[in-house]
Amino acid sequence: RRIVLIGPPGAGKGTQAKSISAKLGVPHIATGDIFRNNIARSTPLGIESKSYLDRGELVPDHVTTGMVRQRLAEDDAAAGFLLDGFPRTLSQAEFLAESLGESGTPLDVVLEMSVERGQVLLRLAGRRTCTSCGSSWHVRFNPPIVHGICDHCSSPLERRADDAEDAINRRQDLYAHETAPLLGFYRRQGVLTTIEASGAVEAVTERVLSILTA
Ligand code: AP5
Ligand code: ZN
Repeated sequence: RRIVLIGPPGAGKGTQAKSISAKLGVPHIATGDIFRNNIARSTPLGIESKSYLDRGELVPDHVTTGMVRQRLAEDDAAAGFLLDGFPRTLSQAEFLAESLGESGTPLDVVLEMSVERGQVLLRLAGRRTCTSCGSSWHVRFNPPIVHGICDHCSSPLERRADDAEDAINRRQDLYAHETAPLLGFYRRQGVLTTIEASGAVEAVTERVLSILTA
């Protein structure tokens, strides 16, 4: 299955994608996670992308698409994938359509996670991210068993640089202007489904699974 998750920053894409990709047996490919992983290891890609992430700006399309092209060429993506955070611009969506078209394997479903703005801001303000495996936790809504420590890998949690107020606002604006137009693009292709993504994590997982396993 070839699935794209779309939603504003803080919609819960990463939270849902981690458990759902395991259930469906497809890799979770999150462009934000790949950038952060490269930044942590100070690779050339990490050095190039860091200032964009810190400010909440989009990394230039040619950098992002080059990275995604490589990732989709890996063996584990041949049978399907769950893309999270990509595509985010029309030109990225066109790139994806072209590369999937060449291999005759179009997208099965684009799932929009819709959450009202106030809820998203609360989620981002309390988010804590694992410095090692990248899992998202929340001080109130999704706390780890031990405060400040990841349940999955026991590494320390931190607040993301782009969860500062200015960067959050910039990310929300970019979502509205650059990414929201993709909803029409995918609706016209008949692959878009929207779910209400407010409510408890488990309730949202059920809604997502009911679409993806239908
Ligand atoms: P990226 O990492 O993709 O960030 P984002 O889209 O802003 O999404 P987030 O990770 O903030 O939110 P999420 O929806 O995954 O929410 P989460 O599950 O963590 O991208 C970061 C940056 O990388 C970009 O700004 C850009 O610079 C660059 N980049 C990435 N892709 C790019 C691209 N394609 N092109 C160009 N640049 C790109 O949940 C949020 C919080 O809420 C957590 O604390 C969680 O525990 C909590 N939570 C989740 N679900 C619930 C629930 N149901 N109830 C209560 N709390 C919940
Ligand atoms: Zn972890």
